[in-house]
Parts: sequence; C-alpha cells; structure tokens
Amino acid sequence: MKILVCGGAGYIGSHTCVALAARGHDAVIYDNFSNSSPVAVERIAELAERPVALVEGDIRDAAQLAAALEGVDAVIHFAAFKAVGESCEQPLAYFENNIGGSVTLLQAMEAAGVANLVFSSSATVYGDPDSVPIREDAPLRVTNPYGRTKLVVEELIGDLCAARPGFNALLLRYFNPVGAHPSGRIGEDPGGIPNNLMPYISQVAVGARDCLSVFGGDYPTPDGTGVRDYIHVMDLAEAHVRAVETLRPGFGCQAVNLGTGQGVSVLELVRAFEEASGRKVPYRVIARRAGDVAMCWADPSRAAEVLGWRARLDLQRMCEDAWRWQSANPAGYRSA
Ligand code: NAD
Ligand code: WQD
Repeated sequence: MKILVCGGAGYIGSHTCVALAARGHDAVIYDNFSNSSPVAVERIAELAERPVALVEGDIRDAAQLAAALEGVDAVIHFAAFKAVGESCEQPLAYFENNIGGSVTLLQAMEAAGVANLVFSSSATVYGDPDSVPIREDAPLRVTNPYGRTKLVVEELIGDLCAARPGFNALLLRYFNPVGAHPSGRIGEDPGGIPNNLMPYISQVAVGARDCLSVFGGDYPTPDGTGVRDYIHVMDLAEAHVRAVETLRPGFGCQAVNLGTGQGVSVLELVRAFEEASGRKVPYRVIARRAGDVAMCWADPSRAAEVLGWRARLDLQRMCEDAWRWQSANPAGYRSA
C-alpha cells in the first residue's frame, strides 16, 4: 500500500515509517518540520528496508495535500501540536493547527477519493477517569485545549464516517509512548525543557539536567506518585501497521486504546531507568502538577480484537532503548 504519513518526521511517525517499510508498504512523509528535524528523515531512510519519500508541506495547505494524495491508499495523521501547557496559553494556535489542519486534510482526502484514515488520538480524551483500566466506552471529558482538539477531531471523523459510508477510520488513543528504535538512531527529541517524564529522566541521566522534579508524592497510589501506562514506541509503530492493514470497505469508524494494560509509577520508572542506564537519577518530590490525574492505564482488549495486536516490549526494554538513543544523541538530532 502507499501510505501518506502526515507528521511522519516526528517521534511516533518516524518509528511508524520504519515499521511500514519493513512490512513492504510505501510510506510518504508529509511534514512541515514545525516540531521535527530533516535529520530524522535521513535516519528513517537509513533504517528503512525500502525508499521512504518526503514531501515538505503543511496539512493546512489544501493544494499541496491534493498533489501528495495522488495514488494514496491510506493516510496516517500524526500532524499536530501536542504540548498540554502550551495549549492553555495558545489555544487558538492549537485549534487552527490540530482542528483546522484536520478539516483541510479530510476535505483533501474526500476530493482525492482516499477513504482510509488512521488518526492519532490520546488517552487525554478520558480526562480524569472514573475507574481503571479504561475501556473505550468510558466517558470522554477533556481538561485542556489540547485534549479538546483530539476529542473534536475524533467527533468530526465520526460524523464524516456516518455521512460517507465508504469512509473508514481508526481513532488510536495512545497512552504514554516512550522508548526508541533499538538502533538508537531515531527517538524522541523534545526541544527545550521536556514536558514528559521519560525524556526528562533521560536528560538527567545523561547529565543535561541536574534533578528530576517528581510532581506529587501524595496521590492515592501504592507509592504516592502518579501511575501511567507506558508503551514502547516500537509496539505503537507496529499497531499503526496493523491499523492501515485493518481498514477496509465497510469497516466504519472505531476508537481503540493503545497501551500495555499495566500501570507504572513515577518512582518505578525512575528505578527501571537507573537499572537500564547504570546512572543515578536524582529526584526531589515537589507539589502536584495542575491537571494531572492519579492513575491512568488502558484496557487493551479491543486492540487485540480489532487489530490483532498487543504490546510485547516491557519496561526494561523501554528504558534500555530510550537510554541508547539519549546517550548516543545527547542533544537529540542536533547532535548529528
Ligand atoms: P511530534 O511533535 O514528534 O510529531 C508531530 C509531527 O507533526 C512533527 O514532525 C511536526 O513537525 C508535524 N506537524 C505538526 N503540525 C503540522 C502541520 N500543520 N503540517 C505538517 N506537519 C505538521 O509528536 P508525536 O509525539 O510523534 O505525536 C504524534 C501524534 O500523536 C500527535 O498528533 C500527538 O498529539 C499524538 N499523541 C502523542 C502522544 C505522546 O505522548 N507523544 C500521546 C498521545 C497522542
Ligand atoms: C507522566 C507522570 C507526571 C514530568 C501527557 C499528556 C497526554 C499524552 C501523554 C499527548 C505523571 C509525572 C512528569 C516530570 C513528573 N500526550 N511527571 N515529573 O501527563 O500522563 O500525559 O503525555 O497526547 O495528553 O497529558 O505524561 O510524561 O507528562 O507524566 O513527576 O518532570 O510523570 O506527574 O504522573 P502524562 P507525562
């Protein structure tokens, strides 16, 4: 299949392009590099078992999308802004890029007759869940503008599928993606101070930052720190390959959780990373971060039923692979 991968130069997209190529699919990266580096595309080309094409373009550019969609069988749509805090400060930029960009992409797909879409959604659509593990039919409630953009786009895609029975979509709700390709050549490269736990821990371990701040030690969890469902990005990439292969006429629209089904606390992740890296990760416990939930992990059974997929890689592999990437590229793709 020929797959247009919008946002394919980013963290999850880059690993997915390598996985698509390994399965014999022709991936075309469509990215404006607003949060990624052309070096990632060079590294994808080095790891992929067949050529991966690049179109430098913006999903808000209808004419460029129209050209890129020629002959395409399915679209994987990663292209979005993703920082929760920034979305509270710049909500309009998030509405424009994440919602506006998605509408332009859907219009271009309809005009081009491309009827299969895999959309990057997030466990953030569950807000503060009533119970764990979280199933896809749990109440949806968002707590920040970023989360709202994911929920709105899920709903828009659902409406389009209802209006156009030929249109098929998978809404993939990722829990907490971490880790890197085992080669250490591609990985997560946040600019500035990382918002997320795993890249922060990696930067402390490599000596780029002094100390991890643990946000809250008084949650109703076994060790008082927040519990999340960390999932290896290689498992996530494989799930996208299954997703494009699952979409077919009459499939319709379904939301699917992508997680391991296991909760891990902040301190458990710190210890696992120390073991994998052989480095100390100094930390201090400070106040809770506004908007954080105590516990969040997936019921991954629908992914097994619908995609025939389950996560295989454990916490040790997540930490080892994250460390291999971080230690070989201490300044991310800027180290190249
Ligand atoms: P990322 O920022 O590394 O990748 C997104 C890519 O999209 C980047 O390469 C960026 O340059 C590109 N992009 C952004 N706006 C664009 C536009 N208008 N036109 C073309 N390209 C554009 O993020 P990621 O971590 O790989 O996340 C991918 C997707 O998964 C995002 O939609 C994100 O919201 C979602 N998601 C991520 C996580 C996570 O923790 N990483 C969790 C849940 C959901
Ligand atoms: C994990 C745990 C923190 C940083 C976010 C988004 C979500 C999704 C994934 C896109 C929590 C704690 C963190 C630090 C810490 N992204 N922590 N010190 O908040 O579960 O999810 O990323 O869709 O929408 O909200 O992930 O990695 O930020 O935090 O103690 O420096 O680590 O409190 O318990 P989160 P995270």
